[in-house]
Amino acid sequence: MLRSTCSGPKATMEGTLMDAPSKEFALAGSLEELKIKGRLVVHGGHRPILVIYDRGRVFALDNRCPHMGFPLERGSVEDGILTCHWHHARFDLESGCTFDLWADDVPICPVEVRNGDVWVKTTFTHADPAAHWQQRLANGLAHDLGLVIAKAMHGQLAAGVAQAEIVRQVALFGAQNRDGWGVGLTILTALANLLPVLPEEEAYLALFHGARRVAADCDGEAPRRERAPLGSRPDPAALKRWLRRWTNVRHREAAERTLLTAIAAGFSPAELADALFAAETERAFADTGHSLDFINKAFECLDLVGWQHAAALLPTVVGQMVAARGAEESTAWRQPVDLVALCEESTSELADLFAAGRGSRDWSGHAALAQELLGDDPARIADALKEAIRAGAAPADLGQSLAYAAALRVARFGNANEHADWETAHHVFTYANAVHQMLTRIGTANIDTHVTAVRGVLHGAMALYLARYLNVPPARIPGDGGEQLDDLPADPETIGAALLDAFDRQRQVDLAARLVARHLTLGHSPQALIATLAHAVLREDAGFHAYQMLEAGVRQFGAWGDTDEGRHILIAVARYLAAHSPTERASLQTADIARRLMRGGELHQEAGSS
Ligand code: FES
Repeated sequence: MLRSTCSGPKATMEGTLMDAPSKEFALAGSLEELKIKGRLVVHGGHRPILVIYDRGRVFALDNRCPHMGFPLERGSVEDGILTCHWHHARFDLESGCTFDLWADDVPICPVEVRNGDVWVKTTFTHADPAAHWQQRLANGLAHDLGLVIAKAMHGQLAAGVAQAEIVRQVALFGAQNRDGWGVGLTILTALANLLPVLPEEEAYLALFHGARRVAADCDGEAPRRERAPLGSRPDPAALKRWLRRWTNVRHREAAERTLLTAIAAGFSPAELADALFAAETERAFADTGHSLDFINKAFECLDLVGWQHAAALLPTVVGQMVAARGAEESTAWRQPVDLVALCEESTSELADLFAAGRGSRDWSGHAALAQELLGDDPARIADALKEAIRAGAAPADLGQSLAYAAALRVARFGNANEHADWETAHHVFTYANAVHQMLTRIGTANIDTHVTAVRGVLHGAMALYLARYLNVPPARIPGDGGEQLDDLPADPETIGAALLDAFDRQRQVDLAARLVARHLTLGHSPQALIATLAHAVLREDAGFHAYQMLEAGVRQFGAWGDTDEGRHILIAVARYLAAHSPTERASLQTADIARRLMRGGELHQEAGSS
């Protein structure tokens, strides 16, 4: 773990002969006055500065406690230690370094004593702000300090550090300081995927949420142990076979070394996706879909931070993949219908079906296939998939239909279900989205070798079938059939405000759906609606699934565009989010405190003047 550090200019000894202060310096007062009063406050342009006389020396530091901004002038000094009188954080007076990591270090500034007067520099700068805040982020992540992480995020963005570079820092920290890919890295990647559609303020929040969840994941965990690729370079087919073999027998080290060998051998992202997807689908709907979702997110993370980090990031998914529990071990997949056997039987036909469908590449039956996938006969569902392949549907087409069908499960989720059932619907949707993304990545260049991965569609279809009870009776989807919803506001700003207001109250599921439908059926900007949904998530202490739902929904909306299907998908997102809002919003408060401290100005003015 990294050591908390702080640095800055040293306080000046009384009477030191110095050059004349520059324009950046402000007169704090005479040294005699400071000696009598013990402390003075200079109201610099950016923030108040506290000047302290202690045992023959003069010190100057930010008067706002780095924890929550309480005026440090109201604190006490003893034995070179400044104590804040709000939550009693303690600081080394000379360096500003804190003894209480949760409070963060207090910035100090140069002070000069000349001709009996005390001058302080009114700006707080770092020689290399990007490097300074990168180090602070590393410290915050290492010690799981939300406030430090938030300030470092703000500082890096203000210093012009690229968002992808910040994601890279956090992702590599997460990969190195935890023995396996986790929830935090999944959230980080999901939010990083959304950055292009977020306004600047929301980007700060998104990066903060992602980083704090990675830090929380790593807190107290053993760091990851590196493994090495094999010394040989077996042919790609052998490596793919071996990966499946090691997954079957749950041999983690062997699977990791095989994957590292494939990376070292220069496998393309598509080939790596094919190999991992084939291995992962050795078990059906493993870990209720999380295993595949994590794998897909690791690939997306590499898209964001650069594939040169593949050896550091990709093997982190192997541990969960080989350990995951497959649905074939559950009764529901075996009785009364053996769904696993049905999937295996259908898989054995895939190569011939894709061969038959080759040449008919203008298949466009995505929506119709999705309706068939929502049926209540698993054999007919499998047949519908097979018929689509025969008619020319590519693997990614099947994934898109599956994801849309799964979104409809959420959009039609009946309010009579138990609350926990939302997660059943959610699992299928995010799994289906991952299947779609992975099959898109794999592509069709070598379809004969990729049919194994298409098992993921069959598994997803059976999971969707088993969740059919969630739509009995189905919730009605607003906006269908030209429904106008004229009882709702019409302008987009008022709709957005009403939507956020709905998320402010519990169980406003149907109202949220109607507002989304209203917005889209009036032809308002989908991007504005997505920004509102993102804001609704980012202001909450959202659960892991809420981030997944939002990102998968936005991704699937991108596949369908502003169509009826696209509207259904965003309604699904809004209904899920409405069922899980509001929360305490503690993280938002931390982010807001950090933002205010970083921007300057006074906090706690009332407390300071009382
Ligand atoms: S310890 Fe100073 S504001 Fe909390």
